[in-house]
Amino acid sequence: MLRGKKIGIIGTGNMGRALARGLVQANVIPADHLLLADRKAERLTPLVRELEAQAFGVDTLIPQCDVIILAVKPQDMEDLLKPRQHLFHKEQLLVSIAAGLKTDRLEACFDEDIPVVRVMPNLPVLVRAGASAYCLGQYASWPHGVVTSLLFSAVGLVVEVDETQMDAVTALSGTGPAYVFLLAEVMSAAGAKEGLPDEVSGYLAVQTILGAAQMMSDSDKSPAELRAQVTSPGGTTAAAIASLESQNFRDIFYNGVHAARSRSAELSQE
Ligand SMILES: NC(=O)c1ccc[n+]([C@@H]2O[C@H](COP(=O)([O-])OP(=O)(O)OC[C@H]3O[C@@H](n4cnc5c(N)ncnc54)[C@H](OP(=O)(O)O)[C@@H]3O)[C@@H](O)[C@H]2O)c1
Repeated sequence: MLRGKKIGIIGTGNMGRALARGLVQANVIPADHLLLADRKAERLTPLVRELEAQAFGVDTLIPQCDVIILAVKPQDMEDLLKPRQHLFHKEQLLVSIAAGLKTDRLEACFDEDIPVVRVMPNLPVLVRAGASAYCLGQYASWPHGVVTSLLFSAVGLVVEVDETQMDAVTALSGTGPAYVFLLAEVMSAAGAKEGLPDEVSGYLAVQTILGAAQMMSDSDKSPAELRAQVTSPGGTTAAAIASLESQNFRDIFYNGVHAARSRSAELSQE
């Protein structure tokens, strides 16, 4: 479905750059079908050189592309789209990754019924291990979803959700990398408290998270089953889990994720 399609990315900051690299490195599209634009030449030029992609001004890029990925900050989006609405047409697909910006806000930038897909990627797209969820706007249909899936699978896993679930996605996978960074911090500090040198404790904590994540990803067992497998009655894991559960570890965590979802809902109203 991507054969022959020209893909444009507007905004080559952290996310746009990660996506561009993923698309070329995973051979999802040939480099000469990747068109890039950014108002910062110092960001655009080295990336274009690295990937052997093509650089354009925004106004020249838009009419040439079948799919345009909008990777600018949410507050820059309307200024980018509204004055250029005449450059877009409804055979194109617009894919926005702007956090909190709903599809109806994007659709309202145009007089025509432009197909829009909203994607919430997360930070590990930088290492091609992202978790992205997308939802279709009112003028987009399943082929647009398939195209979006093919593009974002270059940088990790992709799922489709309803737009009403986007705040929950933001709270879980969007914000999630920070939960794991916090877990690494806490595990590392706990190891140091128990007598390990700081540096050793840090390495062990990060490698333990990496190894456990790899096992969860490779295994057909659920995280709960894997945990049960390593929890022998009367053993060290059982002692740790009993202590965490008795102090409402789950409720503390649920409350944290809920706070993120509420904040995401507030921000998307602003
Ligand atoms: N970082 C994350 O973890 C994450 C996760 C999910 C979603 N997102 C979303 O991803 C989007 C991009 O985030 P980011 O962290 O990659 O942002 P970023 O590093 O600031 O990159 C955005 C780039 O777009 C450029 N730009 C802005 N308006 C433009 C215009 N009209 N024409 C051409 N270039 C323009 C910016 O230039 P200036 O610097 O001059 O403004 C900047 O170089 C955001 O909407 C964010 O909400 C990010």
